Amino acid sequence: MIFSEFKDLVSKELDLRLDAYKLNRVERRVFSLMRRHQVEDLEDCLQRLQEDPSFKESFLQHFTINTSEFFRNPTSFRFLDKVVLPRLFQENQVVKIWSAACSNGSEPYSVAILINEMGIKPDRYEILATDIDLYILEAAKKGEYSYQSLLRVDTELEKKYFRPVGNERFMLDEKIKKQVRFEHQDLLKEKFQTGWNLIICRNFFIYLTKDGKDRLTQRFTRSLKPGGILFLGNTEFIFEPEVFGLKKINGSFYEKSS
Ligand SMILES: C[S@@+](CC[C@H](N)C(=O)[O-])C[C@H]1O[C@@H](n2cnc3c(N)ncnc32)[C@H](O)[C@@H]1O
Repeated sequence: MIFSEFKDLVSKELDLRLDAYKLNRVERRVFSLMRRHQVEDLEDCLQRLQEDPSFKESFLQHFTINTSEFFRNPTSFRFLDKVVLPRLFQENQVVKIWSAACSNGSEPYSVAILINEMGIKPDRYEILATDIDLYILEAAKKGEYSYQSLLRVDTELEKKYFRPVGNERFMLDEKIKKQVRFEHQDLLKEKFQTGWNLIICRNFFIYLTKDGKDRLTQRFTRSLKPGGILFLGNTEFIFEPEVFGLKKINGSFYEKSS
């Protein structure tokens, strides 16, 4: 069986839009999983996926890469803090924020910490955080992190918002946890809510084909309010933002034209 055939069959079996992901990336993940589980070939892999629920679970787990940390790319978070958030709160009574592909929650929680530091009351904003991976969403709701996740957190903020719980692990403050609502969502299949002032989707575009990226950019733009901001990862760019009705404002920040 050739890989593209396998990919199509797996897409159906797992109800995933694998065609939107870069083929070489899917291939690398599948072969490394097969090595780990001593699966001989693609036929064998497909059969295990159909017959063994725990293998299917491992496959899904292995496929999603959950690397994340608080204030990942600090320069971008400074721009968010000093320019984007103040403007959004100045222009809107309630600011709606969506962290798409949020992983373990350190991204939406970083935003909640910044807003709390600005002295903004909880009734003036809403943060939704979504991911395809149910396990990582459970970890995100728990809000317990290793010290590596906190390496970019300022010492004062660390003292204020994290409590050591042993084994170099830290529990996030309840007040911040309450500010973020987590939901399961496949960004490549499910409908998006609309009316967002800020959509954060970082380090997910890198896994997608050009078509996959373009389609997602289009859907994000439609979900933003006019004047709303799309915040991408530091290595992710939209080459012709005006084609999508966006304008680049700084680094990985794009504004939807009014
Ligand atoms: C590398 S992490 C990015 C985490 C965070 N945004 C950051 O930049 O630190 C990529 C996340 O995308 C999620 N993901 C992969 N495919 C997805 C899909 N189709 N829909 C939603 N999330 C997906 C993975 O589960 C993973 O948590």
